[in-house]
Amino acid sequence: MEYDYEKVKKAGKASAEALAYSKSAIRPGRKLLDIAQDIEKFISDKGFKQSFPVNLSTDSEAAHYTPEFGDSRVVGEKDVIKVDLGARYETYLTDCALTVCLDDEHSKLAETSENALENAISLVKAGRKVSEIGAEIEKTAKQYGYNVIKNLGGHGIEQHELHANIFIPNFKNGDSTELEEGTVIAIEPFLTTGAGYVVEGESLQIFQCVSDRMPRSLDAREALALISSEYSTYPFAMRWVIVRMGNEFRARRAISELITIGNLETFPVLIEKSKGMVSQAEKTLIVTKDSCEIVT
Ligand code: CO
Repeated sequence: MEYDYEKVKKAGKASAEALAYSKSAIRPGRKLLDIAQDIEKFISDKGFKQSFPVNLSTDSEAAHYTPEFGDSRVVGEKDVIKVDLGARYETYLTDCALTVCLDDEHSKLAETSENALENAISLVKAGRKVSEIGAEIEKTAKQYGYNVIKNLGGHGIEQHELHANIFIPNFKNGDSTELEEGTVIAIEPFLTTGAGYVVEGESLQIFQCVSDRMPRSLDAREALALISSEYSTYPFAMRWVIVRMGNEFRARRAISELITIGNLETFPVLIEKSKGMVSQAEKTLIVTKDSCEIVT
């Protein structure tokens, strides 16, 4: 099917508006769950689906923390929160992020990811090697004494597929793959005061359906039918399934069964290994012949 750039731009505009909205939604004392739900509602009220559940990863959590069902965590006075979200229009996905610092202590870290993103974007054009973009991100980070997170990076975005073919490193990794005109990509510098490497943590809230193999229990069959019809093969949150099934115990047991039989890919929270503070900035864009067009 022909790629419809107007549709990705439409979704991208909604994503950018949702990011702007998130800055006012995040206030000390507010529950992360209420904030995530408000942002997701903002996107759905505009007539879009979610590319993936809204991520609100705090401090040394770099990515993939979305609030749990009944989550009581609240925003602290000095939290550094990465808001990572995306509006989806039909099969067209977008992906963008920013960092909210509740006090000034780490605002330089957040600012530097924005600068790294800006500098990286200024290099984008057809024929540009992905390693050159990574080198620019790392150079910007080092200027202020920060490390990049080496095992996270940007990615191509195709219809149906949030992380497609191309990988855009946050450092000079020697990959001579060149950007191609018309490709949709997300660039996402992750900077840290720590060592620059993420590991999987305990919280597991995000899943993606990768097989429709029929499970044994009725609960798991119900969950699989719900997931297939509502979220297709896009990432979804445990709390979404619990709300839709109306029973926390049955929903959790069903998800466990679907994981066991290999129907779901899992995305546990990713934490900076040395517990460094982490910031992130991300935009989705379209590579053009001489530069790019930003869609978020
Ligand atoms: Co991304």
